Amino acid sequence: MFHIPITSLKAQFGDIDIYLFDQLLKGHIQKGMKLLDAGCGNGRNVTYLMQAGVKVHGVDTSAAAIERIKQLAKELAPALPARNFIVADLNELPFADAAFDVVICSAVLHFARSEEHFKTMVSELWRVLKPGGMLFCRFSTTIGLEGKLQKVDGRFYQMAHGPVWFLADEEMLVEIERHLGAERLDPLKTTIVEQDRSMTTWVLRKV
Ligand SMILES: C[S@@+](CC[C@H](N)C(=O)[O-])C[C@H]1O[C@@H](n2cnc3c(N)ncnc32)[C@H](O)[C@@H]1O
Repeated sequence: MFHIPITSLKAQFGDIDIYLFDQLLKGHIQKGMKLLDAGCGNGRNVTYLMQAGVKVHGVDTSAAAIERIKQLAKELAPALPARNFIVADLNELPFADAAFDVVICSAVLHFARSEEHFKTMVSELWRVLKPGGMLFCRFSTTIGLEGKLQKVDGRFYQMAHGPVWFLADEEMLVEIERHLGAERLDPLKTTIVEQDRSMTTWVLRKV
């Protein structure tokens, strides 16, 4: 009997976030869809998607990251134009309204420079999403660690591993959802890492 080698999983999916993988398993990302990876970094979350025929675009403030993802696309998905990958801040996305079927934003929003910057980034991610589209965000919050984190100022916290991060709380996310008129596609899911940080997965549908 033929077995698929387990080692091929890594070759196929690379280091894709498991919560994004969950959305793939649920069928929320399909071949031919136009997807924006906002704050794409080195492209770990789109390595598989590029090869699966998803029309991947990426933005990041780091020019080095954009160079790396362009190189990755050239090797793995030569049909994807290099112009799909752009240096930009999430608070001013260089795309038309409703340009994407899916927008993903993994491990970026806690780098917000202020509450206003956080909200502007989320509203930009929302603006470029088509009605019916999915916004997938994963970022650090206070959820599950309320009262246990070291507050620096307002919503900024000193993280045990060194940096100061902007941490939204559940109330803020609910308020933003209400403001956007968003529908939760999945329940809010939070993983607490070593009682040190919370990583929340926030998946919304634009109605
Ligand atoms: C921790 S990395 C995550 C990269 C990738 N999303 C992932 O999950 O592997 C954070 C990335 O967000 C980018 N970034 C941070 N703030 C940003 C902003 N305001 N606009 C665009 N990119 C930003 C950084 O340059 C970095 O590449």
